[in-house]
Amino acid sequence: MSIPVVTFGPTQEAVVSGLERLHGPVTVVRRCSELNELMAACQSGLALAAVVAHGSEDLTSTLVDRLGAVGVSIVALTNDPAEALRLQTIGAVPASADIEPTALAARIAESVGRGRGLAGSRSTLDAGFAELSAEGDPVWEPAPVDVDPPGSGRIIAVWGPTGAPGRTLVAVNITAELAAAGKSVLLVDADSYGASVSAMVGLLEESAGLAQACRLADQGLLDDAALARTATPVFTTGGSFRVLTGTTRADRWIELRASALSLVLEKAKQAAETVVVDVGFCLEADEELSFDTMAPRRNGAALRSLELADEVIAVGAADAIGVPRLVRGLADLAAAVPNAAPRVVLNKVRRSSVGRSPRRQLTEAWERYGPGLAVDAFLPADPDACDAALLNGAVLLESSPDSPLRLAIASLACAPVQQKPESISRSTRAFRFLKR
Ligand SMILES: Nc1ncnc2c1ncn2[C@@H]1O[C@H](COP(=O)(O)OP(=O)(O)O)[C@@H](O)[C@H]1O
Ligand SMILES: [Mg+2]
Repeated sequence: MSIPVVTFGPTQEAVVSGLERLHGPVTVVRRCSELNELMAACQSGLALAAVVAHGSEDLTSTLVDRLGAVGVSIVALTNDPAEALRLQTIGAVPASADIEPTALAARIAESVGRGRGLAGSRSTLDAGFAELSAEGDPVWEPAPVDVDPPGSGRIIAVWGPTGAPGRTLVAVNITAELAAAGKSVLLVDADSYGASVSAMVGLLEESAGLAQACRLADQGLLDDAALARTATPVFTTGGSFRVLTGTTRADRWIELRASALSLVLEKAKQAAETVVVDVGFCLEADEELSFDTMAPRRNGAALRSLELADEVIAVGAADAIGVPRLVRGLADLAAAVPNAAPRVVLNKVRRSSVGRSPRRQLTEAWERYGPGLAVDAFLPADPDACDAALLNGAVLLESSPDSPLRLAIASLACAPVQQKPESISRSTRAFRFLKR
């Protein structure tokens, strides 16, 4: 099979004639003079790869992602090592502007194989072509410096269905507890419907740090220093953490594109041991119905956060409206992100809404109607503690350190970690009122 490619840039003629002289492995099906033309050609299914011969600076991760969505990989030519690194960061394959046609063809095949998840295997490509990269000119690689190792941090996504079940309260206070336990934590407000982390932790400025980070990541410019600049530090009496604040205007969701958010989260994992993401409720992917694979996705930020999470905490309100919503929401979550394996948290547990022995009643109801997942934690309703925290822009460990709600969240945050006997006995106090 010959790989169909489209080319772009004022210097594309030299590239095209070089590739055509190879007679076979790569066929140039269209030469484009504008990026829009290139996008349209790719969307019509004409090509498997695009070669950007000049002007790679205009490529963004959104563009690379959109082309990836229609099965097109990008190879971009540059002699600038910094630009080559940037291209790698946004998911394009860099190659030297002086690359020999044979090596370029090999680079194109490699990128197409990678795009199809066939890295290391070119079995579906032309056998003769596979030899090109083995025996031909050496494939150009950018200098092996400054390439970040993959982050070792963990991502915890806190999600829950519509109806304000307490996602942000749980996300903020889990973050604070982890910080108090000495971990470096970054809290990301990715709720594109109702960002509220800033208000909850008492930040006054509307910095929209996550949107800024996404913009830089889209351009391949989000390095450690830029992340540190866009993430606001929050100091509590227990410890400090950083926050990438959200966009409080819902119409700015378009700034949180999934491709850029992936890069932000990957960078965040390099910078922090734990990344907690407050995720919007809505998981619908109805833009798929429009057959427009290039369209930005309204819920892309939520879906991508959940896909990338190592742990998902699903929060539901423990009442007659919240529990059925959570059950339906978990079914939607399983359909949208099959590998999510959420930990279920019932919040705002109170006798007035569930009856006597609310924990037992909820457990019984959950076993009967729930989706076969155990409830991981029951968080008591504590409006006074929540109001006091919100009023002071404080976290629960500061404003109500001994409240059952704070202790239950501390126990949830530290559950995967071996607990000290002392903290176990403290945390069980959290459920005292449920045990009667
Ligand atoms: N356990 C709780 N007890 C009492 N009030 C709570 C509890 N958890 C959350 N709240 C309150 O419910 C409201 C919604 O919480 P929030 O975390 O903003 O929800 P979400 O992020 O799911 O929309 C806030 O006023 C918060 O203080
Ligand atoms: Mg919220």
